[in-house]
Amino acid sequence: MSCQNTPSSQRHCIGRREDIIRAKRVVKLVDGRDILVLYHEGEFYALDVRCYHAGGPLQTGDIEEFGGRLCIVCPWHKFKITLSEGEGLYQPVDPTVNPPHLMPWRSKGVKQRVHPVSESDGYIYVTLNPSTKQIESDYYQTERFRATVAKT
Ligand code: FES
Repeated sequence: MSCQNTPSSQRHCIGRREDIIRAKRVVKLVDGRDILVLYHEGEFYALDVRCYHAGGPLQTGDIEEFGGRLCIVCPWHKFKITLSEGEGLYQPVDPTVNPPHLMPWRSKGVKQRVHPVSESDGYIYVTLNPSTKQIESDYYQTERFRATVAKT
C-alpha cells in the first residue's frame, strides 16, 4: 500500500501515520488549499494553515486548553482556535466590577475551516470540508491573498 489518491477520491493522502506522529505537524497543499495536519495526544486534526485573523502561520502555534477546549494559539496575535471545530474563542471582561473580572471563555463561532481526517492501512487522509458557507480563513487560501504575500 502507498500514499496515493485516486482521481475520483475525495480523500487526499497526507502521509504515513508514523511519520506524521513523529513530525507532529505537516503542512500540505491539498487540492489548492494549504492544510495543517497535526497530531496531539493521540488525535489527528486538520485545519487551514493560515489564521483567520490576518493569515498567521498556525503551524508554529502552541496548543493549549481554554475553557476546557483544546486550541491552537496563533503565534502572531495570540488568537485561540479550537482544533476540532475551528471556533474562535475569547474571554470577555466584566466591566461592572472593579478591578476588572475575567468571565468564562466564549465562542465567536466557526472562523477557521477544519477538515475531516481519516486513517487507512497506516496512512492519514484528509477530506476537504465541503461546506459552501464562507468562513473567515477561506480568504487566506485565495490566489488574491497569495499574490499579495508574494509582493511583500
Ligand atoms: Fe492570527 Fe492575528 S494572524 S491572531
